[in-house]
Amino acid sequence: KEELNEKVRELGNKISMDYEGKELIMVGVLKGGFIFLADLIRALKIPVEIDFISVSSYGNSSKSSGVVRIIKDIDVSITNKHVIIVEDILDTGLTLSYVLEYLKRYRPADLKVVTLLKKLGRNSQVKPDFVGFEIEDKFVIGYGLDYNEKYRNLPYVGWVRGELK
Ligand code: IMP
Ligand code: MG
Repeated sequence: KEELNEKVRELGNKISMDYEGKELIMVGVLKGGFIFLADLIRALKIPVEIDFISVSSYGNSSKSSGVVRIIKDIDVSITNKHVIIVEDILDTGLTLSYVLEYLKRYRPADLKVVTLLKKLGRNSQVKPDFVGFEIEDKFVIGYGLDYNEKYRNLPYVGWVRGELK
């Protein structure tokens, strides 16, 4: 919990410096990104607008189905704005590369990515601009991340030894 706080503060400072004087919109990827986004915007020292996009790439399990669908589109205009996509975790990169391509159609001034977690050695297709932590290739839960929609409310990120119930 403390490490997360510290990292979010660090990312907030960095983004505040990089985006000083620019019109920034943060687009959270639901549902996993909602807690990270909520904390991150409070660590910013510059004005920010927020929106959310909801995509589904996973079924009811911890395995990827490989299919990405838009469930909820953004509703503020990002055209000519500076956009940062806020993601909980970058695993295969399938979700993010889809969201990036999708949002490019709206012609933002620029489009970057902040991800709280990045699994090591699995994602070559997307290069996030800001990364919180690089982690082992394990299934993690908490701080927005779920297993079958549960455990998002844990105030820390953890992994489970053995079977998840
Ligand atoms: P990707 O498309 O494989 O990069 O997967 C990204 C999405 O899958 C994330 O936005 C998460 O919602 C979910 N995901 C990937 N790995 C984990 C994990 O370890 N725990 C919980 N959700 C995960
Ligand atoms: Mg997600």
